[in-house]
Amino acid sequence: MACHNFYGNINLMNYIEEIKKLKNEKNAIILTHCYQPIEIDEVSDYVGDSFYLSKKAAETNADIIVFAGVHFMAQSAKLLNPNKKVLLPNPKSGCFMADMIGVNELRQFKSKYSNIPAVCYINSTAEVKAECDICCTSSNAIDVVKSLGADKILFLPDTYLGKWIEEKLGNIKVITYNGFCPTHLRIRIEDMENSRKQYPNAKILAHPECHTEVSKLADFVGSTKEIMNYAKESNEKQFVIVTEKGVVDRLKRDLPQKEFILIKEDIVCQNMKWNSLEDIYNALLNEEHEIEVNEEVFEKAKKCIKRMMGVNI
Ligand code: 13P
Ligand code: SF4
Repeated sequence: MACHNFYGNINLMNYIEEIKKLKNEKNAIILTHCYQPIEIDEVSDYVGDSFYLSKKAAETNADIIVFAGVHFMAQSAKLLNPNKKVLLPNPKSGCFMADMIGVNELRQFKSKYSNIPAVCYINSTAEVKAECDICCTSSNAIDVVKSLGADKILFLPDTYLGKWIEEKLGNIKVITYNGFCPTHLRIRIEDMENSRKQYPNAKILAHPECHTEVSKLADFVGSTKEIMNYAKESNEKQFVIVTEKGVVDRLKRDLPQKEFILIKEDIVCQNMKWNSLEDIYNALLNEEHEIEVNEEVFEKAKKCIKRMMGVNI
C-alpha cells in the first residue's frame, strides 16, 4: 500500500515505486516522449521521439502501454496494437498541430489535386491518417517520401516540415497544407541571430517544425532524438537547442560536461506537460483513459501507419 505524506498525497518517490510495482503486476510498459516532464523518465521503459516510440510500441509484448506523450502518439500505438490496452495518462494531452486538420479540411485540400499521394505527419488523427497514403515522423520523413517514387506529394498538416522535406530532396514538389506548431513558431530569426552573436562557438540544432527561415540558420536540423544523438556524438562542447525545453532538460542531465542553451525560455509545449507521475499512477491503477479508435477508420489508419513502419531507414 502506498504511503501518504503530510499533504495527504503520495510523494514523488512513492509514486515512482508504486508505478514500478503496477508495471510488473500488470505487464505494462511506459513509453515517454522527450518533451514530457523529466521526472517521468524514472518510470519509463523507453524515452525518445515519435518514431522511436512507434517502433517500441510495435515490438512490445506488454499487455498495457502507458503513453506519456500526446493523443496522436498514443493513438498511433493503439493502431499498431489493436489487442492491447493503450492508456494516455492525462486526456488533456492534445496537439495543436494535429487539431488543425480534420477530415473535411483534408478532403478539400486533396480535391484540388488528383493522383498525387498524400503523406501525413504522424501528428494527425486516425481519421486523417485513414485518408492518406502513408504517414511519417520528422526522423523518417525523407525516406518515407523517397519510398513513394513520386515527383509530387501532398504533405499535411505541417507546412514547415513539408517545406524542409522539399528543400532536402531537391527534386520533389511538396504541396503543403497550412498547419504549424505554435510552440516551434515562437522561435524567430532574431532569436537565431542573437544566439549566433552571443554563442559564436556553439552548434545550433533545430527541429524541422521551426519556420523555414529559422531552420536555414541552424547548423543541423533533425527530430528530437536526432538532435540528442548529434549532441552526444559531437566533439563540440556548447549547443543552442532550437526545440522544446524537455530536450534541453534531458541533455543537461545526460551530458553534464557539455553546455546546452534553450534558444528562448518559453519554448515549452503545454500539451506535453499535462501528464504527471500521479496521472500515470492513476491511469495504471484504474486502467483509465484508454485510447479507442473509431472502428470505421481503424483498418485504413493502421495501413497508413504500417506502411511507414515498412519503409527501410
Ligand atoms: P518528433 O517526431 O521529433 O518526436 O516530434 C514530435 C513533435 O510533436 C514535435 O513537436
Ligand atoms: Fe504538437 Fe507542437 Fe506540442 Fe509537438 S510541440 S505536440 S507539434 S503542439
